Amino acid sequence: MSVLVAPSLLSADFGDLRKEIEMINRSEADMLHLDIMDGVFVPNISFGFPVIESVAKYCKKPLDVHLMIVQPEKFIEQFQKLGTTYLNVHYEACVHLNRVIHEIKEHGMKVGVTLNPSTPVASLVDVINDLDLVLIMTVNPGFGGQKFIEHSIEKVKMLKELIVKSGSKALIEVDGGVNLEAGRRLVDAGVDILVSGNTIFNAPNQEEAIRQLKNL
Ligand code: DX5
Ligand code: ZN
Repeated sequence: MSVLVAPSLLSADFGDLRKEIEMINRSEADMLHLDIMDGVFVPNISFGFPVIESVAKYCKKPLDVHLMIVQPEKFIEQFQKLGTTYLNVHYEACVHLNRVIHEIKEHGMKVGVTLNPSTPVASLVDVINDLDLVLIMTVNPGFGGQKFIEHSIEKVKMLKELIVKSGSKALIEVDGGVNLEAGRRLVDAGVDILVSGNTIFNAPNQEEAIRQLKNL
């Protein structure tokens, strides 16, 4: 199976969002990655429900929501109502992670836990069998267009080992600074889903950039 690709809307032209979503719908993208930032958990604010509702209305691909917010449990129901497929919460934002994971599942969504670059893979040992997805941040979250952190390759290999050893069915997703070169090495290390913002939206031909990432 070829790697799944999730374009990150954060790098899109927000002045022409409908056109950008139509491009995603036409393309070979497997899902659409939505970055929700609160200015508290990360030093930036992205977009909120009025924008997300429009995106959900026009987007035909599954939604992969990445919550970079404190107390993500407050919004589980709202994301369910929008038809979210994957709901990702940060490990660092959840004091009672086990409870949050189960609440997301009870709402019928697939659950992902996201790790910041400085959070070890071993932090997931006690929940790995409950997860549909682990999202490894390959930059510090908050902004698109940052440089890929090299150590991430090792981290993906460690996560793959944990998944195989524990018999977990979790997919491995990576997010931040993913270009064709890093993408190739990430796929070799065992990644299932590549998130990509800049590499796709700043390409001369966006659909072609998606195709190239899928063919890595
Ligand atoms: C960063 C976001 C990413 C970002 C990726 O906090 O989580 O999804 O938009 O964009 P690129 O691929 O440009 O690093
Ligand atoms: Zn993201």
